[in-house]
Amino acid sequence: MKIICATDYADMSRKAANILSAQVIMKPNCVLGLATGGTPVGTYRQLIEWYNKGDVDFSEVTTVNLDEYRGILKDNPQSYWYFMHKNFFDFVNIAPERVHVPDGANLDADAACKEYDAVIHQVGGIDLQLLGIGPDGHIGFNEPNAAFELGTHCVDLTESTIEANTRFFEKKEDVPHQAYTMGIKSIMQARKVLMVANGANKADIVKTAFFGPVTPEVPASILQMHPDFTLVLDAEAAAKL
Ligand code: PGA
Repeated sequence: MKIICATDYADMSRKAANILSAQVIMKPNCVLGLATGGTPVGTYRQLIEWYNKGDVDFSEVTTVNLDEYRGILKDNPQSYWYFMHKNFFDFVNIAPERVHVPDGANLDADAACKEYDAVIHQVGGIDLQLLGIGPDGHIGFNEPNAAFELGTHCVDLTESTIEANTRFFEKKEDVPHQAYTMGIKSIMQARKVLMVANGANKADIVKTAFFGPVTPEVPASILQMHPDFTLVLDAEAAAKL
């Protein structure tokens, strides 16, 4: 595990974007595993800026996103498909056919998850997976006590995650209660993993997940065992280390 301490959110975003763009420069046809949430938005913004300057080219890149709400259509502004397009894909030269997000519109959970695992397999696995961390230590939608051995699967969201995601919806009742998520196994099989975390509200979980025991109660803690894991923190998230 490598920890990079940044001064603030902008610095964290720039450092994470540097790692992602290095991956794309070294392997232009790489597979990037991408994440939604507030934390990576600045990273995407930085990548867009460098793309506009001609410093990074996404034309051969394939992406696979971590998760999607179940029962939501792509054009729903709350879908992760929509989020990724409005925050990143619409502004760079990624080929639409190489963008993959679990199919939230497919209510057949088994079929949707199998199909997504097949996609990850077909593209040759993930070169670099970007992650955020939930206040309860979740990665993707792998909530506390998720089995470490699962691939893509359907999860019931915990009350704490529904609560945390309410900020993106008009009211709490609108937050979907289920999602399709890559499993811990899929994440651990990525050749490199990059996590971004910022803000004082992440300080405790960062300490617990990466300086405490590896346990399914804190899903992110398994990343301690990953052979190429980089954690980029701002000063507030690193304050308790
Ligand atoms: P956040 O979410 O980036 O919006 O804090 C992180 C997560 O829940 O994985």
